[in-house]
Amino acid sequence: HKVELELEAIEKGGFDHFMLKEIFEQPRSIADSMRGRVNADTGLLLLGGLRDYLDKLAASKRIVIVGCGTSWHAGLVAEYIFEELARIPVEVEYASEFRYRNPIISEGDIVIAISQSGETADTLAAIELAKSKGATIFGVCNVVGSSIARATHAGAYTHAGPEIGVASTKAFTAQVTVLTLMALAAAQRKGVIADSLFRQLLVELESIPAKVEKVLQAAEKIKEIAYIFTYARNFIYLGRGLNFPVALEGALKLKEISYIHAEGYPAAEMKHGPIALIDEDMPVVVIATKDSSYEKVVSNIQEVKARKGRVIAITTEGDTQLPGMVDFTIEIPKVHEVLMPLVSVVPLQLLAYDVAVMRGRNVDQPRNLAKSVTVE
Ligand code: G6P
Repeated sequence: HKVELELEAIEKGGFDHFMLKEIFEQPRSIADSMRGRVNADTGLLLLGGLRDYLDKLAASKRIVIVGCGTSWHAGLVAEYIFEELARIPVEVEYASEFRYRNPIISEGDIVIAISQSGETADTLAAIELAKSKGATIFGVCNVVGSSIARATHAGAYTHAGPEIGVASTKAFTAQVTVLTLMALAAAQRKGVIADSLFRQLLVELESIPAKVEKVLQAAEKIKEIAYIFTYARNFIYLGRGLNFPVALEGALKLKEISYIHAEGYPAAEMKHGPIALIDEDMPVVVIATKDSSYEKVVSNIQEVKARKGRVIAITTEGDTQLPGMVDFTIEIPKVHEVLMPLVSVVPLQLLAYDVAVMRGRNVDQPRNLAKSVTVE
């Protein structure tokens, strides 16, 4: 038994939990997911597993993305990126809903299945259904040779390495990385992206690992904030645009491992419901980075403050307006808007982790949850 414990400690690489280790591995897992695929110096982007299907992707009239849990959130991020860069309409569906509602799928459609484990039963069934209707299926999986990877026509693996913590962290950022590369490749093949923007995004992508590293340096500050809110009963997470799915993912992380009720919302939807929950005990995490929706998010923050909510804002480095308006800020480096989720999700992973640890939860193996759900 002692040997087993020691072995586990070694596997955790000096971290208290696998989840924390995996959060800290992200600079590397993101870089690994780009390795051999992106070269900003030469302006080349190559996805070997998609080479024979790139024309089909570029010509597609519609993409349907399916997944569950965190993988579904990565799909929501991809929806924004594909539509913005490649101008292909995207629908994102829970695999469990898609498979049971007689979806309209035809031969020109591309279905992208996202799955860390590659074994999720609902996602696998969604693939089989779409396949039977003639769609072309791409996989974005982390586990090589997994059932989903084998069931697809083509795909691009994430190279996050094994993820042990039940709450997904590095697999999510790896998925978003690979999906971004797919969108860029499609955009280039389709001829709808300016060369300068394409080149700029490759350069920005290569800078992401260092920016994530920078966010990880805020870990101590995030721990202090987590301490203050350890006994909150509810949390709301708000974001707009690409940060909306990040808000969903932040809320999911907290729910999964701390068992605190948390809801993610598009910031502007708050007034249609969750605003009723806000009082002086309510922590509201707002992703308020300097992007095209910044001013709108600032007014959403004012709405929360007017009701005495306690705001924790994720802000862009050098923001001088928000620190005076909110209760706490966590700064992240400036990032191109399209790539923002890769960086803005990291403080939310840490916040959830710290709260769960302070509440004495079993972070790596939360109650009632499984790492991979191979039954319906
Ligand atoms: C389970 C896990 C989640 C994961 C989801 C989808 O619920 O606990 O962390 O996001 O399944 O898993 P997949 O392996 O398909 O990405």
